[in-house]
Formats: sequence, structure tokens, C-alpha cells
Amino acid sequence: MAFIQLKNICKKYPGAAKNSVTDFNLEIEEKEFIAFVGPSGCGKTTTLQMIAGFEEITEGELFIDGKRMNQVAPRDRGIAMVFQNYALYPHMTVEKNISYGLKNMKVPADEIKRKTDWAINLLGLDEYRKRKPKNLSGGQRQRVALGRAIVKNQKVFLMDEPLSNLDAKLRVSMRSEISKLHRQLGSTTIYVTHEQVEAMTMADRIVIMKDGVIQQVGKPMELYEHPVNKFVAGFIGSPQMNFYDVTVEGSCVLFPDGSKIILPDNVLKNLNGKTGPMILGIRGEDIKLDGLNLDLLKDSVQSSVVDNVEIMGNENNLYFNFGGSTTIARVSKYEVSQLGDSISFVFMPTKLHFFDKDTEEALF
Ligand SMILES: Nc1ncnc2c1ncn2[C@@H]1O[C@H](COP(=O)(O)OP(=O)(O)OP(=O)(O)O)[C@@H](O)[C@H]1O
Ligand SMILES: [Mg+2]
Repeated sequence: MAFIQLKNICKKYPGAAKNSVTDFNLEIEEKEFIAFVGPSGCGKTTTLQMIAGFEEITEGELFIDGKRMNQVAPRDRGIAMVFQNYALYPHMTVEKNISYGLKNMKVPADEIKRKTDWAINLLGLDEYRKRKPKNLSGGQRQRVALGRAIVKNQKVFLMDEPLSNLDAKLRVSMRSEISKLHRQLGSTTIYVTHEQVEAMTMADRIVIMKDGVIQQVGKPMELYEHPVNKFVAGFIGSPQMNFYDVTVEGSCVLFPDGSKIILPDNVLKNLNGKTGPMILGIRGEDIKLDGLNLDLLKDSVQSSVVDNVEIMGNENNLYFNFGGSTTIARVSKYEVSQLGDSISFVFMPTKLHFFDKDTEEALF
């Protein structure tokens, strides 16, 4: 049996016109690292708060380690949590902030000391232990907030955007610290973020939500390679997947600007005879400009003019108009193109995504 089970969970805040979370079903295995992602307001915090017990579950059932939790008080759920706005106690030192929760739990003094020292060590906070929060950097404060949660040594660890207040560089280093911490502690973890990169890099599985409804659950690469709908396809991956309103006629894909590409049999077979208007998607790295691919796919070579270049260092994003939309191709740093260059390119046919024009669901 899964360690955490959410069964048809719904949340309707008192007085709200509609649900904030609808029919949330998920089974989480022990020690798994799960990320909830989705745009602002999609219900991530609400779901986490229901698991923690700070928000009532309107409908459905929550089980942790086989026990029904709906009516169990937060402190009896075996959960540690880092909140979206972690507030440290300003008048307490780092070590007091970390140990305070244990004191409240009536843990014996020697154990409090042992656990606090352990957390301080693990999080590299030793030289700051006597400082107060106002004299710490954002990243150090963030680590104190983590320390406060990990000393409780609970089986379930919930984190709500724990890195949201940090600058880009610190986020990256804290990202790997949290991953390491998870491997060391082995707590079953749910990590909320609206940053798809964090979800992709840290999670065993990602739950992607929109308007209170789960869109897809899967391993990072499953979501990246096989998004079930246009929303997931567009949310996961940066730069965003390129989308086009196309019409499929026979083996031909027609774009609004009159461009066309020919689909090979193995791709056509997946479409199962479906023709007519649909949405085509392709990721930037699956648009190829190199001679070998241009030669292999010479019936479908397209051309355009570069109208913006983003230099990322390791790779470049080339912007150009194609198929009635702005298109972004991701090319290696060795494929240098300048603003105004004419380029020829092909779409890798096996990397094309097709979505129903009305439902926006993936066609295969
Ligand atoms: N206490 C509340 N009362 C009424 N509605 C609420 C309450 N808290 C949240 N909501 C609504 O529920 C929906 C989900 O909110 P939630 O905070 O769970 O989103 P989120 O995914 O965590 O967003 P963010 O990324 O901005 O933190 C939103 O439409 C929000 O306005
Ligand atoms: Mg939130």
C-alpha cells in the first residue's frame, strides 16, 4: 500500500464560488520525492495544507501510513513543514530557532542538543549559530527554516516554495542541498513549486496541476517527452514548446503561412488516419539546422530569418518567424547565427507532438 494516499480530495473554501482543488487522486510511495507544480492559484498550497491538516478536507480521504487522517490534528500526523513564507523568530538565535519546536514537543534536553547540533552541522550553519535572523543572508535564513523542520525527524516532509525568496544562484545551490538532504533523511517529501526547473531536477515524480485539477503525474522525462495535453507540453521545458495551428492532409502538414512538411510513415501511423485542423508542437532542440539533418529531411527543409538571438553560453536560442508563429530553436554554441541571418532548418519528424484542436489533448 502507498505511504500517502489522496482519494478524490476536494477543497471548497467557505463562501467560495467553486472548488480550489477538485478530485485530487494520488498515491505516494515511502521515501518518494514528489513535486507539485503549476501556475499561481492552481491549488498547490491548498493541497499541501490539507495534507498537513491546516485546512479541512471538504471531500475525499487522506491516508498516511494506512491511517485515515481527515480528522487527525496537524501535530499528530507525523509531518514537518516548511511554509511558503517561513517566518523565523526574530528575537531568537539560529540554534534557538531550530530547537524551539523540539522544546514544545517536550523532547528531553540532551536529545534537543544532539538533534540541533546535527541539523546545524548538516546545513553548514555552525559559524552562525549564535546569530539572529536579521544578521543572516536569505540563503542562511532559508537553511534555518529547513533546520527547524528536519530536527522534528518526521516521516513526511512538506515544503511549500521553500526557495522562493532566494536569488537565482542560491536557488541552484539550495536545490541540490535539498536533494542531498532528502537522500540522507529518507523522508517522504512533497515539494511545491511553480518553477518547472526545480520540479524537473529534484523530483522522482511530478504532479502538474491547473485550476485545482491534476493534469498529469509522471517522472520528469515522461512529462517532458509525453505530455498528455498542450498545457503540460507548454509548462514543462524552457524555452516553451513551439505551437502551430496546422492542418493535416494526407501525409502533409500545412502551416497557416503556406509552409508544409511531409510526415514519414512511422509518424502518420501514430495519427491513426486522423486529418484536418490540429495543433502541432515541437521543442526548440528538435529543430535542426545542421547539414546532416537538412540532407536527411530534404523534402521538408524550411527557411526563415533570425530576428533575435539569446546567447545562453552553453547554447543559443534563435528566434524567427515560421508557420505563422514566433519560433524558438535551441542550437549548440557551435552553431553561431547572427541577427538577420537566413537559416534553413527541419523539424525532427519523430519529435512532433500533435494535439486535438478543441480539447488540446495529445493525439498520441
Ligand atoms: N483562505 C482562502 N479562502 C478562499 N480562497 C482561497 C483561500 N486560499 C486560497 N484560495 C484560493 O484557492 C485557489 C488555490 O490557491 P492556492 O494558494 O492553493 O494556490 P497555489 O497553487 O499555491 O498558488 P501560488 O503559486 O500563488 O502559491 C486560488 O484561487 C485562491 O485564490
Ligand atoms: Mg502557494
